[in-house]
Amino acid sequence: MNAELNLLLEELERFGAANDAGIDRADPGRAQRMLNITRDTGEFLAVLVRATRARDILEIGTSNGYSTLWLADAAGADGEVTTVELQDARYAMALENFARAGLRDRIDALNADAGAVLRIGGDAAYDLVFLDSDRSQYEAWWPEIRRVLRPRGLLVVDNAVSHAHEMAGFVQAVKDDGFLCSLVPVGKGEFLATRGA
Ligand SMILES: C[S@@+](CC[C@H](N)C(=O)[O-])C[C@H]1O[C@@H](n2cnc3c(N)ncnc32)[C@H](O)[C@@H]1O
Repeated sequence: MNAELNLLLEELERFGAANDAGIDRADPGRAQRMLNITRDTGEFLAVLVRATRARDILEIGTSNGYSTLWLADAAGADGEVTTVELQDARYAMALENFARAGLRDRIDALNADAGAVLRIGGDAAYDLVFLDSDRSQYEAWWPEIRRVLRPRGLLVVDNAVSHAHEMAGFVQAVKDDGFLCSLVPVGKGEFLATRGA
């Protein structure tokens, strides 16, 4: 990673921490929290993208684009990250951050509902899917995620330790489909899954 991108990521980390700390959890203003992945999760994603040579990546839950920048940088010049964000304000912030990072050309940012994007996604279209969004939808989205993930593709899901109870049904559905799974204690906990033999 170049020094300028690292500086931008550090700036976004400070912004996210200050912004999210200033918003009452019980307040409807929660809609404006950035809820970014942790830096060590970004590093972990980058290693996974490089090691698996993932080129076509789908991210569900862009927020202001912090995690997208880790994915896009690791994917390299011939990679492409499609990222989906429902909320207009965070989507606009993400576009600005992608431009500042000079990574706009390898990011296809969609201001849309992830369920709709998944439904029109091609079969086996993605090498890696990163899921960091509305956990109440994961189980319903799973059949489409499974379909758009290529054979030997990798699914990574954030908050698998911090919100394990909310993901129990989804995790069970993935396991019931015979996927090989692993829970990695990085950041808020990353659930990894790939098709079994
Ligand atoms: C935890 S945040 C994503 C954080 C981001 N991955 C990062 O680390 O910088 C989850 C995001 O998912 C978005 N979201 C929630 N439901 C969605 C849906 N149905 N489709 C697309 N985005 C959705 C929220 O607006 C929110 O910005």
